[in-house]
Amino acid sequence: MPSRPDSGLHLAGTGVHLPARILTNQDLEKLVETSDEWIMTRTGIKERRIASEEETSTHMGVVAAKQALTNAKLKASDLDLILVATVTPDSFFPSTACRISAELGASGCPAFDLQAACSGFLYGLILADQFIRAGTTKNILLVGTERLSSVVDWRDRNTCVLFGDGAGAVVVRAEPGRRGLLAFDWGAEGSSGELLHLRNPQAAGKALSAPSPGSPDCIVMAGKEIFKQAVTAMADSARRTMEKAGVRLEDIRCVISHQANIRIIDALVEKLKFPREHCFVNVHRYGNMSAACIPVALHEAGAEMKLQPGDKVLLVAFGGGLTWASAILEW
Ligand code: UT7
Repeated sequence: MPSRPDSGLHLAGTGVHLPARILTNQDLEKLVETSDEWIMTRTGIKERRIASEEETSTHMGVVAAKQALTNAKLKASDLDLILVATVTPDSFFPSTACRISAELGASGCPAFDLQAACSGFLYGLILADQFIRAGTTKNILLVGTERLSSVVDWRDRNTCVLFGDGAGAVVVRAEPGRRGLLAFDWGAEGSSGELLHLRNPQAAGKALSAPSPGSPDCIVMAGKEIFKQAVTAMADSARRTMEKAGVRLEDIRCVISHQANIRIIDALVEKLKFPREHCFVNVHRYGNMSAACIPVALHEAGAEMKLQPGDKVLLVAFGGGLTWASAILEW
């Protein structure tokens, strides 16, 4: 259904699904040579959620999407577009977006996945904003869903302590008179992609030969280098977005950044000279859920940060690709 061309994006509803199984740092001490003290001081993560066999990326996305639709007071049949950001799709195709659409009963609604790793949700929000501004689309479901426990090497202490599973969803609506995203910035540096990657073992297989047995590849990360690039790229992107929007730091009510490591978040707010108490943090509860981090944070931040309509929220992310993005959303 088309929207009016003077309409802007409004965050109409949010939802989450977080698996019930909690894996604590103490549990990890039994798996690899690590300690609660090391994980807490180096990352700020206390625990993370681990999906059960039934909790696929699709399943978690569907639960989050239904909650977001209920909160937005909309039905699946009201949707004009379904976007899903994930690096852990249940299949290469059909896309996770098509699978979620089928379970929601959103017959005929266009649906596709987008992949920008931890920046995926913000890339999706920027796309949704473009469709709404163009006046072509009214109600959009945007989901970030990840089952990272399936692609983590549980013998590698450098990575296995960092990641968790979960999904977050938002329904955005075109509303007349709304300004939508005040500004955004996004980018990618493919030449540095090897610093954080997850190989597709099938892609390397020989054509016309049977697939070779063996386990799928796992996340590989040059942690220290990614840390430095994340802080610089997110700070630079946030500054560009504020400049484009003509918004000063003191006008920002809350910063919601990708939740990879508390030290990255601290370094980011210090670089931006932003008051730490206005920065939303939930990395201690869930660890890094890639594309699901920002929608889960959006769901929780409204109540925890007491956000009011009109508040300006700075969203910023960085991840594999390498990719980054930032945007200012009016609550
Ligand atoms: O979503 C975007 C992608 N991800 C990120 O943004 C994550 C970016 N990177 C990071 O968060 C940090 O670099 C890490 C948390 C991954 C690592 O922290 P670090 O301060 O950079 O530690 P490090 O890699 O320099 O390792 C320091 C030491 C090493 O021992 P040696 O070589 O100094 O003897 C590691 O082997 O800590 C050791 N180490 C551990 N020790 C206990 C690494 N992982 C662990 C562990 N437990 N889990």
